[in-house]
Amino acid sequence: MIDIHSHILPNIDDGAKNTEMSLEMAQSYIENGYTEVIATPHWIEYGGTPKRERVIEVLSSFKKRLEVEGMDLKIHLGNEFFITPNLLQYIEEKEGATLNNSDYVLVELPMREYPQYVESVLFDLQLKGYKPIIAHPERYSFYREDPNRLGKLIAKGIYAQMNFPSIAGQYGKEVQKAAETFLKHNLIHLAGTDSHSNRRRSPKVKEAVKLVKDIVGEDEFHAMTISRPAKIIANEEFVVKEPMEVKKKKWFQFWR
Ligand SMILES: [Fe+2]
Repeated sequence: MIDIHSHILPNIDDGAKNTEMSLEMAQSYIENGYTEVIATPHWIEYGGTPKRERVIEVLSSFKKRLEVEGMDLKIHLGNEFFITPNLLQYIEEKEGATLNNSDYVLVELPMREYPQYVESVLFDLQLKGYKPIIAHPERYSFYREDPNRLGKLIAKGIYAQMNFPSIAGQYGKEVQKAAETFLKHNLIHLAGTDSHSNRRRSPKVKEAVKLVKDIVGEDEFHAMTISRPAKIIANEEFVVKEPMEVKKKKWFQFWR
């Protein structure tokens, strides 16, 4: 598998605290069937985010360390951009990195309140040829409450990435339920770990992998974790299924 969302790099955000932890995560990645990882440290406007050059430095020294340790895991450059009205400008000025310098951009939204500029920022990115991927939509209250809001963006060519820990229930029942609903309605195109350490949010995804496969089937699972991520790395396009409308349950269906 290929992970497109990971905080494996040491001491650069709230992910791996040091190289030891990054190496432990790398070991878990390998044991869980991963061959490649796109490192996506948080990029936050006014958030004291490390410059792109610094991320490249840390990435290249970690890659060397993996080689020394004989660990067979490829790591690529990326960022997880926290949305801001000026996102396009920051990306054009190369303040942060798209996924492996491709047209694909991993974008994080606030957990609760929905900024009015989400659509305009994402569509402006598209107009310039970028392909936005919304990170873990199941974690945002506004998409849980109204999944069709996400569906409308997907119908316009926006992609969405689910976190494996979501489906495994690590963020609670509500997030888990939403992840299931989104998967069943073609509102998810990619599955990532969003791992921050080797403990709670980690690359240990075997249980979650089974749960996702049970919902979407082997072929779609392969697309979510191998073929689409490979296309992202190669900066090639991929196809996705049409999003389906999520119908509100009628009162008599609630107890089923
Ligand atoms: Fe993340």
